[in-house]
Amino acid sequence: MTRLSVNINKIATLRNARGGNIPDVQKVAVDCEQFGAQGITVHPRPDERHIRYRDVELLKPLVTTEFNIEGYPSDSFIRLVTGVKPHQVTLVPDPPDAITSSAGWDTLTNHDFLVEVISEFHRHGIRTSIFVGTEPEFIRGAAKVGTDRVELYTEPYATNYPKDPALAVKPFVEAARVARDAGLELNAGHDLNLDNLRYMKEQIPWLKEVSIGHALIADALYYGLQNTIQMYLRQLRD
Ligand code: PXP
Repeated sequence: MTRLSVNINKIATLRNARGGNIPDVQKVAVDCEQFGAQGITVHPRPDERHIRYRDVELLKPLVTTEFNIEGYPSDSFIRLVTGVKPHQVTLVPDPPDAITSSAGWDTLTNHDFLVEVISEFHRHGIRTSIFVGTEPEFIRGAAKVGTDRVELYTEPYATNYPKDPALAVKPFVEAARVARDAGLELNAGHDLNLDNLRYMKEQIPWLKEVSIGHALIADALYYGLQNTIQMYLRQLRD
């Protein structure tokens, strides 16, 4: 089974646009779970322009499915995550002012740093996933830093899918095989949507989890959140 983790950053972006508490981020997280989401993902950034550190703390006791916190492992992020103790932390190499994650880790250059932070998360009983592109050397490098999972950065798949789905997915299937052979579990995320999700899942049936935010929240404007989550779940059905 491939789990759907809903990234609720965009809900916080909408809330922050007015300064009050509409929409209520905590309530949306609980509702997403009631509507079928199998996980909640948040990505607090240092400027707190969407999810705030306080949101993450408030969400922890409310999330009853899988709680996944993404981010660059700065000292403040590590403190937040080891205090909150989610089920999973996903490490991204973004600089602090990045609009969104746009690349995976170079796990060779950052080997020592990743070994250190991953062992810190493991000490607190938190599963780790690190965001990677499809380069086999970086995936093998991910296994060597001791992470439990990798999350494939699927933006290039999403961009190329409309032109040629088979060609678009090929490097991802190869990367997924390298990960599996290296003993890594596999997540995927970025720009996945109702058009391209099912094909990815069919080609990589051992995918553990997808985390989806932007397209899912945009679809919810038309279909409503409950319908939209059900539509995404249908794409992931075996
Ligand atoms: N995975 C990671 C590591 C991300 O940074 C993001 C965006 O915050 C996503 C998945 C979700 O991407 P999208 O919002 O395009 O669905």
